[in-house]
Amino acid sequence: VTRGYIIAGTGTDIGKTHIACALLRLWRAQGKTCSALKPVLSGVEDGIAVLQARSAATTEAGASEDARFVVPNDAVRLLEAIGQTPTPEAVEKMAPWRFKAALAPPAAAALEGQALDFNEIAAACESALARDCAPRILIETAGGLMSPLTERHTMLDLIERLRQPTLFITGSYLGAVSHTLTGVVALVSRGCEVAGVIVSESAQTAGRLEDFPDVLHRHGVSSSIAIVRRGAETQAMEALGRMDLG
Ligand SMILES: Nc1ncnc2c1ncn2[C@@H]1O[C@H](COP(=O)(O)OP(=O)(O)OP(=O)(O)O)[C@@H](O)[C@H]1O
Ligand SMILES: [Mg+2]
Repeated sequence: VTRGYIIAGTGTDIGKTHIACALLRLWRAQGKTCSALKPVLSGVEDGIAVLQARSAATTEAGASEDARFVVPNDAVRLLEAIGQTPTPEAVEKMAPWRFKAALAPPAAAALEGQALDFNEIAAACESALARDCAPRILIETAGGLMSPLTERHTMLDLIERLRQPTLFITGSYLGAVSHTLTGVVALVSRGCEVAGVIVSESAQTAGRLEDFPDVLHRHGVSSSIAIVRRGAETQAMEALGRMDLG
């Protein structure tokens, strides 16, 4: 039986792909077959790259002076994490709906004269979940938990439909506690299982990073919570390895 996990987050650029890739590499290191899907991907420059707003992380690394720069897109990163070569065919399978504009999917699709169909996207996810070749599959949503997916649906509607446990990725920035609690309440209110909350250390942490799990538990989060410090994926793998994902 396929075990699917949805990777959702408080917002874009929070670390969903970082955590997803680390988890995929961890499973592979444990000898578990796994796969991934990023059904809808915005901001794709070409098959390989994605446009991103300049982030603090890259500024630190001394990257380009441009406000936007090009990095490997989520499909490529996920393919590499599962040990597959990111050929155009593989990218197409990993991220079937790709759009140029770095906007929420319905807005990005509209610029290309397209509309997104909720049932088609959900069906693609369901067929990936039904494929028995990969006992574990991660499905990465786009943007935040209630970012628009179509003109009438948000990512949360897709999660509700797929009925797979969610790993909710958040940060440690000022405001992250409220965003996390709001997201968890929204998931629970729709009957979605929260398999875990992962605090991916933000470029700037409000208060003490190690306090986040306690604060979240005290305010009603009952699932397991892990902290992933900024750093290499190997570091994230260790933190995720200590987590009980049920
Ligand atoms: N814990 C972390 N340690 C180091 N780098 C991180 C961490 N979390 C996120 N990053 C970096 O921050 C950037 C944004 O992270 P990521 O691409 O994983 O976000 P995302 O939530 O998947 O965004 P999107 O909404 O575009 O899918 C990436 O360059 C990523 O490598
Ligand atoms: Mg991502």
